[in-house]
Formats: sequence, C-alpha cells, structure tokens
Amino acid sequence: MLARTASMPERSAMYNANALKIGLFGANCSSGRSATKVPERWSASWSDCLKLARMADDAGIDFMLPIGRWKGYGGDTDFHGATLETVTWAAGLLAATKNITVFGTVHAPLFHPLIAAKEFVTVDHIGEGRFGINLVVGWNEGEFEMFGVKQNEHDARYDFAQEWLDVIKRAWTEPDDFDFVGSYLNIKGVRAFPKPYGDTRPIIMNAGRSPVGQSFALRNCDAFFTATVDSRHSIEANAKKVEETKSAARQLGRDIEVYTIGQVVCRPTQKEAEDYYRYAILENADWGAVEQMMALKNITRQTVAADEYAKQQQYFAGKAIGGYPFIGTPDRVAEELANISKAGMRGIAVSFVNYLNEVPYFRDEVLPRLVRLGVRQPH
Ligand SMILES: Cc1cc2nc3c(=O)[nH]c(=O)nc-3n(C[C@H](O)[C@H](O)[C@H](O)COP(=O)(O)O)c2cc1C
Repeated sequence: MLARTASMPERSAMYNANALKIGLFGANCSSGRSATKVPERWSASWSDCLKLARMADDAGIDFMLPIGRWKGYGGDTDFHGATLETVTWAAGLLAATKNITVFGTVHAPLFHPLIAAKEFVTVDHIGEGRFGINLVVGWNEGEFEMFGVKQNEHDARYDFAQEWLDVIKRAWTEPDDFDFVGSYLNIKGVRAFPKPYGDTRPIIMNAGRSPVGQSFALRNCDAFFTATVDSRHSIEANAKKVEETKSAARQLGRDIEVYTIGQVVCRPTQKEAEDYYRYAILENADWGAVEQMMALKNITRQTVAADEYAKQQQYFAGKAIGGYPFIGTPDRVAEELANISKAGMRGIAVSFVNYLNEVPYFRDEVLPRLVRLGVRQPH
C-alpha cells in the first residue's frame, strides 16, 4: 500500500501496486449491468451498496464505477429504473471505506461546472484523495428531454465538455480570481476554495467511442475505458486497442491508462457458470428493456432485417450491456483476466448479476489466483 501523499501518479495508481486494477461497475443502478428478470437481480439499494463497498474495500478491490443514469429503460423490470445519484453515492461510500477509489459519473451538460467542481472537491476531501470522475456527455436523448436540456449535436458535446473541464481544472488550481470566456461558457470572477485533496486532483476518465470522444479522452483524461464491439468478443482485440490508444496519447505527449469492462459469472465448474449465464442473461433477459436500449441506438425491427435484429438482440443482452463475459471456473476467469493485463490493460470494471452474493467467491477464489499469476499484489 502506498501512502496517500500528494502525487498524481500515486492517485492514478489508486495507491497500490496492482498491475491489474479491478473495479465494480454499475452497482448504483437497479439490475447493475444485467438486464434480467431473475429474482436475485441487483437492487442497488443504499444498504446493499454500502455492504458491497465495505466488502470490496476489505477484499482489496481497487475501485467502484457507477453509471450516470437518470431514467429507466422500461421492460418488465424497468431496467435501471432505480438509480442512486453518483457523486452523493461516492461521498457516502468514501466516508465508509479506507482504501478503495470511488468514481462519480457526471453528465457535463447537466451540472454547472462550478457546482460540479465544488462537489468534486468536497467528495475528494471526504475520501482523502480517493475520488475519481467519469466525465460523460450523454447519448440518451430521453434523459435530456427530462431535464428540458437540448443536446448539442454529437461532436459539439465534446467541445462543450472541453470548456466545462477547463473551467473545473482552473477552479481546482487558480489561486486568484479568474474569468472564463468560451463559446459556451462565460463566467466572471471565479473564486473557489479549497482545492482538491493534497494538492492533487481527482483522476479523470472517459469512455468516448467516436473519434472525437476518444480524442477528448486522449487530451484530457488519465484513464480511457474502452468497450468496442471487438473487445466485447476477444482478448486479442483488447491488445490492439491498448496499443492504438497509448500510441495516440504518446503523440500528444501524454500517457493514458486503458481500462475495459466485463461481466463475471464464476462458479466451481464450467458447466455451472455457463448454465447460470444462459439462465440469467439470455433465457431470463428483460427483452423489453434490451429492445428499448437497441432502439436508442436506432436498431429496430423497422431499421434492420429480421435475422440481423435477432443477432443484435443476443449481442446486446449477452455482451453489449455487461461487456465481455468472463464465464467459468476460478482458473478460467483468472486466466482470462490475466490475459487482459498482459494485453496492456491497466484494469477492468466488472459486474455480477448479484454483486453481494457473488463477490465473496470471486474474492476468495479469483483474486488469489491473480496474485499467483503475477498481475496483483497480495492483499
Ligand atoms: C465503461 C463505460 C461507462 C460509461 N458510463 C456512462 C454513463 O454512466 N452514462 C452515460 O450516459 N454514458 C456512459 N457511457 C457512454 C460513453 O460515455 C459514450 O457516450 C459512449 O461510449 C459513446 O461514445 P461517444 O460519446 O464518443 O459517441 C459509458 C461507456 C462506457 C464504455
């Protein structure tokens, strides 16, 4: 464990020497990353989140990454219908834990940058330097309508986000009052104290997939989350993506860490794991919610042929929502996770159908194997 001193590399390393960082993804949203009707699906209640964060902290899990989601996707379960707001969620969890990094996921167009800067500083002090930011610009039109906020066209969202983040970074660092005059933001006499914890700043991540989204991440972020169609299918594709991202960052004189996401179903036998994955994720998928998510990406029975639609349904339920499926015995899951590390990924944010039921087995069986495979330190 590294001491929490004022150094950005230590912050980015989440104050430990694990080569492969492991995080939990999506626990603030009902059903997590599994659009399923099974009765044990994730509640996302505060008490479950709190138990989970303490369990993860004790287990040496490195981070928790929530989803910024404001409106459910419908279906029988109203997938993501109940969500806890991520910055206040992080504040509560950071106050109750010691080592784990907790992210807040923030839609730049929905929060005034000075309110956001102040919230981030507050949460960062609560967590003594363990808060991180997932900056998102939004893709789900219905959510923006709900706020009465008109979404910019796609690429302009990242132009806005650039100004938004520039204001925040200045508010975190400038000792004197400053003005900011941009194309979107025009603010005067900004004065903001205190600054983030220990003369550092929260680590910043982004998961843009478009060229403009990725270039935003390369210019501004410490961590880039990728979950491309290819990386959802194969480990090799991850290695290629890491190399492309890191070399593009180097051309800008920057170093960026690459992360991905995945869904874990780990059981004592391969058959048990595969059976449960099929049962929970495919046979009991909440197809209404899956179809709603597909429709938001303009994949409907009207826009694509019937066989392509059926293929997309399986892909969305099976891989797109949760990410690459790590299905199998502890040996198999650990080996696949170690391969991701060997591909150059700095970490992965994983989800489980029911985190509280399934993290203990993962902690007891998979994490020690990752130590033996040389990608994590003993905890
Ligand atoms: C790991 C990960 C986490 C994400 N979290 C959110 C989120 O919480 N809220 C959200 O609206 N979008 C989220 N997104 C969507 C991205 O921010 C981004 O909008 C999307 O990948 C499309 O890329 P583009 O904006 O460059 O078109 C996430 C994507 C990934 C891969």
